[in-house]
Amino acid sequence: MKSVVSYPERGTGGDNKYRGNCSPKLLKDLFELYNPKKVFDPMCGSGTTRDVCLELGIDNEVMDLNPQYGGWDALRDEIPGVYDMIFWHPPYSNIIKYSGNMWGKPDSRDLSQIPLSEYPEFIKKLNLIQKRLFTSLRKNGRIAILVGDIKKNGRLYSIQRDMAWMGTPEQVVIKTQHNCWSNNNQYNGNFIPIVHEYLIILKKTSCSILPCNISVPAEINWKMEPRLTWRTAVRVALEELGGQAGLTELYKELSGYVATKQHTDPKAKIREILQTKPEFYSLKRGIWGLRNVA
Ligand SMILES: C[S@@+](CC[C@H](N)C(=O)[O-])C[C@H]1O[C@@H](n2cnc3c(N)ncnc32)[C@H](O)[C@@H]1O
Repeated sequence: MKSVVSYPERGTGGDNKYRGNCSPKLLKDLFELYNPKKVFDPMCGSGTTRDVCLELGIDNEVMDLNPQYGGWDALRDEIPGVYDMIFWHPPYSNIIKYSGNMWGKPDSRDLSQIPLSEYPEFIKKLNLIQKRLFTSLRKNGRIAILVGDIKKNGRLYSIQRDMAWMGTPEQVVIKTQHNCWSNNNQYNGNFIPIVHEYLIILKKTSCSILPCNISVPAEINWKMEPRLTWRTAVRVALEELGGQAGLTELYKELSGYVATKQHTDPKAKIREILQTKPEFYSLKRGIWGLRNVA
């Protein structure tokens, strides 16, 4: 296995009609690399992990909320054993719905019922499940998480970036995607179709303490930035005012910026910036505009 893998032929095991299924070849490469004694898959879908384990003679347990695999809820139900390898392939929010679509009736415990509008809630649940899964890993055991990015309405939802990484990060493998439904879509404009997924491999190197990166959404407020240059501050203020403004408005807006507070004559400084930097232009006396591209 290298850090980029590609399996144009899916291989046998699991069910290629189960939407969002993964290639058995990926699992074969993974298990042959690490030689696990006992594997767990908490969201086994069509049973790809089980089939690969059977082929390789590896002891395994596989579960899913799908009643065919126990109706087992990764968020609440007891994890049945102790493992040295967990392969986890969660839904990508509601991009493919499982309950009420691939099996049974819609089930509120199904992660694929969480809409993208509730993406933080989806990430929170992934993190809770990841934490639970770690409790069932032996020391020096590994969890390999297969996740993708989602692009919707011009926004990127990068699950691998937003979810927590627990344990010691060991490897990220990029897996190119083949035969997925969205590959048939025609895109125009500046849309870049996503044709890869990530396999994130994390190791449990210590028993009682779990290193963990949790990314917390934060905001940068330029008005509170002490190291903002005058040039940037004037541009941000003008953008904030809609791209055109009078000097009085600009003076008022910029008086709220921490970076500009110390100056002895801020009004003169603002005028100097407007008159000397090419991104600003004068519409008429006392009114300034911002060029689209300076
Ligand atoms: C991407 S699919 C896994 C596909 C699988 N790797 C395969 O090759 O077929 C994700 C699975 O997560 C299951 N799932 C969703 N929420 C769950 C939950 N709370 N507990 C357990 N399984 C869940 C879905 O039923 C679905 O089968």
